[in-house]
Amino acid sequence: TSEESFYDLIGGEEAFKRLIHRFYQGVAEDPLLRPLYPEEDLTGAEDRLRLFLIQYWGGPTTYSQERGHPRLRMRHAPFVIGEPERDAWLKHMGDAVESLELPQEQHEKLWKYLVYAAHSLINA
Ligand code: HEM
Repeated sequence: TSEESFYDLIGGEEAFKRLIHRFYQGVAEDPLLRPLYPEEDLTGAEDRLRLFLIQYWGGPTTYSQERGHPRLRMRHAPFVIGEPERDAWLKHMGDAVESLELPQEQHEKLWKYLVYAAHSLINA
């Protein structure tokens, strides 16, 4: 009687690893976004975003065990996020989502959420 999570459906940890790794490859080359990331090494940021999304979509809850409640608006408050930053973030995430080559329905579900979440984090 197991109800498959969206996390499992799209390919589990492997899919999220590919998604977020690809995303941060874009961020690493982005002159607008890269300076926002406080750490020289992006692997910590990569781990946090990957674990958050895994948890959000019904996978293991490692994110909250390590970081507590997500409080995403609060955690983004130190960074100036206007429309240009949001659009750059979504550009790299869009490339990353496309690279997964998911069935259309899964692609749309994932993408809609990311667009909504990115819009909700504008703070400038
Ligand atoms: C952390 C930027 C949107 C989830 C961060 C950090 C930056 C950042 C600079 C700090 C990196 C670090 O963890 O060391 C942005 C920008 C966005 C954006 C410019 C554009 C709108 C999003 C969205 C989500 C998200 C849409 C979720 C769907 C996270 C998570 C963390 C994080 C989970 C780590 C929080 C923690 O545990 O400390 N973001 N972000 N971000 N972001 Fe974003």
